Amino acid sequence: MSKQVQSRRLTVPEIVQRKGGEKLVCLTAYTAPMAALLDEHVELLLVGDSVGMVLHGLPTTVGVTLEMMILHGQAVMRGASHALVVVDLPFGSYERSPQQAHESAARLMRETGCQAVKVEAGEGIAETIAFLTARGIPVVGHVGLRPQAAHVDGGFKAKGRTAAERERVLAEAHAADQAGAFALVVEGVASDLADEITRAVRAPTIGIGASPGCDGQILVTDDMLGLFDWTPKFVRRYGKLRQVISDAVASYASDVRSGQFPGEAELYRLRAR
Ligand code: KIV
Repeated sequence: MSKQVQSRRLTVPEIVQRKGGEKLVCLTAYTAPMAALLDEHVELLLVGDSVGMVLHGLPTTVGVTLEMMILHGQAVMRGASHALVVVDLPFGSYERSPQQAHESAARLMRETGCQAVKVEAGEGIAETIAFLTARGIPVVGHVGLRPQAAHVDGGFKAKGRTAAERERVLAEAHAADQAGAFALVVEGVASDLADEITRAVRAPTIGIGASPGCDGQILVTDDMLGLFDWTPKFVRRYGKLRQVISDAVASYASDVRSGQFPGEAELYRLRAR
C-alpha cells in the first residue's frame, strides 16, 4: 500500500470541531524535509507568505508572488501526509475582486493539492471569503496585525491597544467569521481582545502574539527553532539552531582547511579485481 493511502490528512471539518476543545498545534513550513519533520506533531501546516522574509530575504511579505507560494506549497504537500495544509494567498493576488481571488485560490489548490487558503481579512474582504467558500475553497482569515499591510501601518505593529482599533479588529473578525472563514489567525493583538474574539466567533482562533485562550497557536517555525538573532516579543525559542548550524559549519571549515575532511571513510577507492 502506498504511503498516501495509509496516511490520512486532517480535514477542514476536523479542524473546525476543535473549537473550544483540545488546542490546535500549528506551524509554518516552506520545504518538503521540514514539513516531513513537523507533520506528526501538528494539526495544521501553514505555507505562510512569511516565506518571503524567512527564506528569500525580502524586507516584507509584499514581494511574494503566487508562483513562489505554488512552489513552496507543492514542496510542503510532498513532505507532509497528516496535517491540514493551508497556503497563503500573497499580496496582490486576491484583493481586487472575489473573481481575482477565486482564480488565484483555485490555481493554488489545483497546482499544490493544498486543502485551504489564507487571506488577510481587512475591511471589504468578507465578500471574497463568502465567494470562495461557496465555490468549494476553504478559507482561513487573518486578523489583527496584517503583515501585508505593513506599509500602511508603518511597520509590524501590535493591534487593539486603543478603543478604535479594538472595534476595527473585532469587526474584521466578525465579518470574516460570518462570511464563512473556517478558522481565524489572530496575530499581534492585546490578549484580552484575542480572548474576546475567540468567545465571539464560531471559527477556531489560532493565535500568534495573541492569547493562550485562543483555540490554537501558530509560530513561524524558523523563529521558534532559534534560526534568527532577532525575533518578535511573542516568539518563544524552543531551540538554538543558529548556534548549532554555526558550530557545525565552523567544524567543517576547520576540517577542510586542515585536510582532515574528507577522510578515509568518506573516499571511494578502486575495487580490488
Ligand atoms: O505568513 C505567515 O507565516 C503567517 C503566520 C505568521 C501566521 O501568516
